[in-house]
Amino acid sequence: PTKLIMDTDPGIDDAAAITIAINYPDFDLDLITTVAGNVTVDKTTLNALKLTRFFNSKVPVAGGAPQPLIKPFEDAVRVHGVSGMPGYDFPTDLAKPLPMTAVEALRDHIMQAAEPITLVPTGAYTNIALLFKTYPEVKTHIKEIIAMGGTLGRGNMTSAAEFNVFTDPHAAEIMYQSGVPITMVGLDVTLKALLTPETMQKLPTLGRTGTMLHALFNHYGDGDQTGLPMHDVNTLFYLLHPEAFTTQKMWIDVQTEGPANGETVGDTRGAYHNGQTNATVCVDIDARAFNSWFLDTVAAIG
Ligand code: BDR
Ligand code: CA
Repeated sequence: PTKLIMDTDPGIDDAAAITIAINYPDFDLDLITTVAGNVTVDKTTLNALKLTRFFNSKVPVAGGAPQPLIKPFEDAVRVHGVSGMPGYDFPTDLAKPLPMTAVEALRDHIMQAAEPITLVPTGAYTNIALLFKTYPEVKTHIKEIIAMGGTLGRGNMTSAAEFNVFTDPHAAEIMYQSGVPITMVGLDVTLKALLTPETMQKLPTLGRTGTMLHALFNHYGDGDQTGLPMHDVNTLFYLLHPEAFTTQKMWIDVQTEGPANGETVGDTRGAYHNGQTNATVCVDIDARAFNSWFLDTVAAIG
């Protein structure tokens, strides 16, 4: 199994990703760290704990950065509801988060792992930027980063910027300049692999996990009648089924000011960086394969 850490801001699509990361037999989820993003960090931490409780999982949760490095914090409650995970009554007897910050927990878990670990950020990259600045020695102990965020095309926050990068562009810049291998799973694929209405309809027939996800998805403010983007889940689908994606290696720069603040600029022609690359960018995806994998996975969790 792939040893994983999820750094996340649940968040409805984050909740679906955490569900799969906790339960999928090919993943060995070592730690969940939380960040301010879709909702404030006290709520993203609580939401991660609701999910570990729901699955009776022992995976530790550490709360992280309450705000971006420099930019003022803006949430996405219009998409994810005031709680970040509306529509389902989770148990209330929750475990406590670890008595340390996400950065400390990340350092400990990365340095103590027997093999290089895979990092899956599905929120703003604030914790990761703080980690790299505070403990640069972790970089060589990370196998790769599979990050949801960014876009080569249009944004979903501004015409240029995707939400996770827009939330903390300075953190994104630090992550992309870190030298750690990064795969960008951005809107270029996540807006293609929509969860179809047919898939949505089948979810409640797939046991308590399908019922829980269906309830959350009913309150999801992203998508339309053609389907719901499962942004964060695409990172895990990529880890398991890279053959379902088309990728291109390129240099990614992050805009940190002006009207394109938070834009991920891909040097698709290699014109500005002498052919050097710092990212593998997902540019296409098999949406049908995604839907059937998602249904099979939820059904198997039960
Ligand atoms: C990203 O923004 C968040 O609202 C989602 O959880 C996802 O991580 C999509 O742009
Ligand atoms: Ca997210």
